[in-house]
Amino acid sequence: MILKNPYDVVRSTLIRRKFKSVGKNTAIAPDVTVGDGKSIIIGDNCCINQYVSLIGKGGLTIGDNTHISSYSAVLTGFLDFKTRKHKYKPITIGSDVWIASHSIIGAGVIIGRGSIIGANSTVLHDIPALVFAVGSPAKVKRKLVKGLE
Ligand SMILES: CC(C)(COP(=O)(O)OP(=O)(O)OC[C@H]1O[C@@H](n2cnc3c(N)ncnc32)[C@H](O)[C@@H]1OP(=O)(O)O)[C@@H](O)C(=O)NCCC(=O)NCCS
Repeated sequence: MILKNPYDVVRSTLIRRKFKSVGKNTAIAPDVTVGDGKSIIIGDNCCINQYVSLIGKGGLTIGDNTHISSYSAVLTGFLDFKTRKHKYKPITIGSDVWIASHSIIGAGVIIGRGSIIGANSTVLHDIPALVFAVGSPAKVKRKLVKGLE
């Protein structure tokens, strides 16, 4: 992520304060939307791109070297159909994961290390390590040997 405007550089630095912790060399775009950031842990060398939404209530953990592309949303909350009340379940996104643009990661999901989620996916169930998964709901298309390949 290359930020040319000094104003964006300052905003990108300040946004780090919203989180519980952010690792070294992690870049967070200034226009990322953050909810309950003090429940969000992000590892080293990650990239959280433009217009991503991260809602952390209940707990959100992102490993190292993970890339979340623009307009994706990671949402720990959902509306219980019966009670119409909000509920929350923690989300864990492993290291070396790539979530391509416009994807939604739902409450309670665990995405395994090295997996890739194709653009426009809706991930409602756990995704194992080292797979390419895509679709709504996301399903495993194929296995990967080394992750980001
Ligand atoms: C991750 C990505 C590049 C993988 O594409 P790919 O290399 O063409 O994927 P594959 O060749 O392994 O495709 C396997 C299957 O999944 C399908 N597929 C791939 N990406 C898909 C998507 N986003 N939505 C629906 N189906 C998809 C392919 O059509 C193919 O289907 P088939 O087996 O029926 O022929 C692509 O899914 C993607 O997300 N592109 C957008 C990248 C992006 O967000 N960039 C932002 C800047 S970082």
